[in-house]
Amino acid sequence: MRIKVSVALLLAVVAFFYSCRKQTVQEEPYIQTPISLAIPPYFPKMKIPEDNPMTKERLALGRKLYYDPILSNNGKSCSSCHYQENGFTINTMVGGIPVLPHVNLGWSKNFLWKGEKHYTLEEMMLYEVNEFFATDLNKINADEEYKKLFKQAFGVNSISSKEIAYSLAQFFRSLISGNSKFDKYRRREVAFTSEEQRGMEIFFTEKGDCFHCHGIMLFTDNLFHNNGLDSTFTYSKGRYDFTGLAADIGLYKTPTLRNAALRKNFMHDGRFKTLEEVIEFYNSGVQQQSPNIDPLMVLPQKEFGLQLTEQDKYDLLQFLKALTDTTFTNNPEFSKPH
Ligand code: HEC
Ligand code: HEC
Repeated sequence: MRIKVSVALLLAVVAFFYSCRKQTVQEEPYIQTPISLAIPPYFPKMKIPEDNPMTKERLALGRKLYYDPILSNNGKSCSSCHYQENGFTINTMVGGIPVLPHVNLGWSKNFLWKGEKHYTLEEMMLYEVNEFFATDLNKINADEEYKKLFKQAFGVNSISSKEIAYSLAQFFRSLISGNSKFDKYRRREVAFTSEEQRGMEIFFTEKGDCFHCHGIMLFTDNLFHNNGLDSTFTYSKGRYDFTGLAADIGLYKTPTLRNAALRKNFMHDGRFKTLEEVIEFYNSGVQQQSPNIDPLMVLPQKEFGLQLTEQDKYDLLQFLKALTDTTFTNNPEFSKPH
């Protein structure tokens, strides 16, 4: 009896030391190298959650995950529908819906056309991982390299969807577009052509009245509006489909106009294929009888449309094109890591 106990004890002691040894061999240090984002000084302040401070390790991990089909069960990665060269969108529709771009989303609290997901980027990413991709956590936990990288970035031995979402959120916060011709003009580095200058005036004054919803500097207020595309709503009723509130019928998220010239499908159903068509819609196509139309779309001076001349429309287009940021679309820090 006594011998049995001591043998058991001995075995336990050996097992204990062995497990310690094994652990020290596998132990990866938890490293948090703080980094700050290069945010243009005239942009709003970005709120970063206290439990997910920007670190080099988490950001690098988020970027790697963004491009890795390991997250999905069908060979797709985020980058399959969000291409950097198009400003992190794609020129084809997906299930009849234009893909929203990933640009300056670090300032957004509302996500998706109907705003099904809101609050923080972390929560939005949790939705992407758990529901949209239904990520198989066993697969990622079986990957030795990811185990090491997550251990380093988050100090965890087992990877959960939380750490995946948190690292993706960091990559999204880094996707800042603030070096278009408009930005260079604003920083007094370049001059605008007279067309761009006039287009900017139309945009920022009551004449075109675009700035109220596509506000500076993000060119979106990140809110929901009915901009008068339709007079009746049958199939898709906008944000109402999610909230069930009558006041939300016909409301959609205001998309940013930064890099809009790189897109090919405009509005929540991609009904317009060019920016010229969009401008003509605002000029002469607004359905003023639309229920819940935004008060800004039915100001008295808009009763007969914006009444823009051909020159005005051309100038407005030149201004919208000046919001394209090729530094952003070519930034090697955002591309697929090696
Ligand atoms: C199969 C194509 C496809 C893939 C793959 C894809 N997306 Fe998207 N994404 C879309 C579409 C379409 C929308 C717009 C959908 C909507 O609003 O209803 C969108 C919208 C978004 C938005 C909202 C942007 C905004 O302005 O509100 C975020 C954030 C996003 N995707 C993140 C991701 C992440 C993260 C991944 C990878 C985990 C991913 N997407 C993979 C097609 C895709
Ligand atoms: C009342 C708010 C409001 C005003 C004012 C407004 N917009 Fe919009 N804009 C929106 C909303 C909301 C959408 C998305 C609507 C949808 O898809 O149903 C949108 C969509 C767009 C798009 C399509 C972007 C994309 O990626 O699909 C462009 C381009 C655009 N607006 C340009 C303009 C211009 C130019 C003006 C001024 C002439 C203007 N907007 C005035 C709210 C507004």
